[in-house]
This record gives sequence, structure tokens and C-alpha cells, in this order.
Amino acid sequence: MVAGIKRCVTGILVVAFGLIGIESAAAQSSDNVPPLTVLVHGGAGAMEEGRYTPEEERAFKAALVAALDAGYAVLETGGSAVEAVEAAIIILEDSPLFNAGRGAVFTRDGDNELDASIMDGATLNTGAIAGVTRVKNPVKLARAVMEKSEHVMFIGDGAEKFAKTQELEFVPRKYFKTEHRWQQFKDRLAAEKKSKQTQRAREEKYGTVGAVALDAEGNLAAATSTGGMMMKRYGRVGDVPIIGAGTYADNASCAVSSTGWGEYFIRLTVARDICAQVEYAGKDVAAAARDVIHNRLQSAGGNGGVIVLGPDGTFTMQFNSKGMFRGVKQADSSAEVAIYGDGAM
Ligand code: GLY
Repeated sequence: MVAGIKRCVTGILVVAFGLIGIESAAAQSSDNVPPLTVLVHGGAGAMEEGRYTPEEERAFKAALVAALDAGYAVLETGGSAVEAVEAAIIILEDSPLFNAGRGAVFTRDGDNELDASIMDGATLNTGAIAGVTRVKNPVKLARAVMEKSEHVMFIGDGAEKFAKTQELEFVPRKYFKTEHRWQQFKDRLAAEKKSKQTQRAREEKYGTVGAVALDAEGNLAAATSTGGMMMKRYGRVGDVPIIGAGTYADNASCAVSSTGWGEYFIRLTVARDICAQVEYAGKDVAAAARDVIHNRLQSAGGNGGVIVLGPDGTFTMQFNSKGMFRGVKQADSSAEVAIYGDGAM
């Protein structure tokens, strides 16, 4: 049963068989040049309509638009897709609203441990970091790993030693102690003591920010950043710094950034599976993402979403949770953002 189909400025909202997602219509401009494009997400989860006040919604949307504008400004001035996704993510990391950078959730020990990754679709070069505690912008560190080291992933103290060699900005740990996250942490500790955990509480544990971009050279890039899973312990690391799970970019197929319950995204190599379906099975990005999110992830019991962008500028944003903070800015159109599952942008 098809519940409804609506056109948006740059895309088509599809709500069919319980699937929720935004898909782009034909993307190429009349001169066949793929359009400059940036997509961002700010996490998927239990954000059913009415959860946030109008004021909160405005604040989330303003931050998403600022991230899209920052990424797009890079592309418009001839910058690369890698520079664009980094610029977009920095805005989201600096915002206290999202679970990444400043707004990171707390670990079981009351700390913040940050993960990030970035990938260049032109070269398949990539960088990732996990478990850093004092680097202001983890995405900058991931990019430095990609461009200034011969390795792919650094963790913990080693990653921070490397950050010092790159003269990246460090902040005191209290920079990450935002009041609303601290309150969430205390509430969760109290609920844990009472052995109470609702489905909504489970879904709220995972937040992430991400960006994908297509530049004037036709190159794709993807980046993702997170505070990980609320109440995580024992150095737990999720999908975000795992290349092929939380992040993937290849000019031959697509660029993907994921958000959701990281363990499932790792098991299913969600980002790479979407790109592999595009590359080997010849699917379009929407069909590939629908299969992975609404069939494979759903059947496995995981939840979350992805933003996906192809080298021709076609894109899709798919999620099987109640909502996903998300947005797109493409060619000469203005930024479009949405939060809930109704897809209104
Ligand atoms: N997707 C974020 C995490 O599971 O860490």
C-alpha cells in the first residue's frame, strides 16, 4: 500500500510500505554537469512529531542550515568535497545540540569519548579516530590522519599525541559538559538503578552527525562524527570510525554517512553495502539505501539512517527510526531541512 507521495523542491518524498525517505529526482543540470551538493544529518532516533517545542525545532533546523551553508560555500568557491564535508561537520560539532563534539553524550563514567572519520571518494584515502577526549573538532583530526599520516585510524592517547603534532585545538574536558547531556546522563543512571529502559531511551542513546558532498570536479566525500553511545563502557567504539560501516565514499558508486545503533551498522557494513549495491548490482542510490535500511537493518533489529549521494548528484536520505535530523543543499536551490518522519522539508 502506498501511503503517499509528495514532491519537494529538490526531491520526492516516498512513504510506501512503511519506508521513510527522501529521494532526489533527476539531478543533472541541462548541460549535464552534476550539481554541487551537500547533505547533512544530525542523528536519527526517537524524535516523533511534537517531541520538540517550536523553539527547539527552529534551533535544530538553524544549525542544520548553517552546516549546509558552510559546506556549500566551500563548494561554490571551488573547494573540494573533502573540505566541504569537514566545514559542515565543524558547525555541527561546535553546536551543543547534536551528539558530536561539544554536545557529545556521556560515558558510564561521566566522560566524553569522541569518534570521527572522513573519506575521499576520488582516492579512497580515509582517516578515522576513536576515543579522544580533548580535541575540539574530531573531524579535523580524522582529516589530518587521512592527509598527514600513512595510517587510517588512531585511538585514544595516541590519537591525541598525533593531534598535538598537527597543532589542532584542544579544549578542557568541561567544554563537553553541556547541561542537557549531563541531565540525560543523570536520568539514565537513575533509570539504570531501577532497571528501567524504554525503547525511546534505547533509541536516544545513539546520535551522530554526518555530511556527504559532491564538488565541481565530480568528486565525492563523506564524514561522520559522534560522541558515540550514551553510557558506553570499556572503551566501546561504534560504527562512526569504522570505514564501510559509518562512513564510505567512492566516486565509482556513492558517498554515505550513517547514524544509528552502531553495532548493527558495523555488523552489516551499512555504508559499504549501499555503495557495493550501487557499484555491482547497478542499483540507484535510493534503491540500495532502501534495501540496506528497510530490509537488512530492520530485519537484523537495528535502527538508524543514512544520507547517500551519487556522483551524478542523485541522493537519498533513508531511516527506519521515527525521525532523522537531515538536510540538503543542491545547485542553486536554498537549503532544505527536516526532522520528523513525515519528510516535510
Ligand atoms: N552511531 C553512533 C554509535 O553507535 O556510536
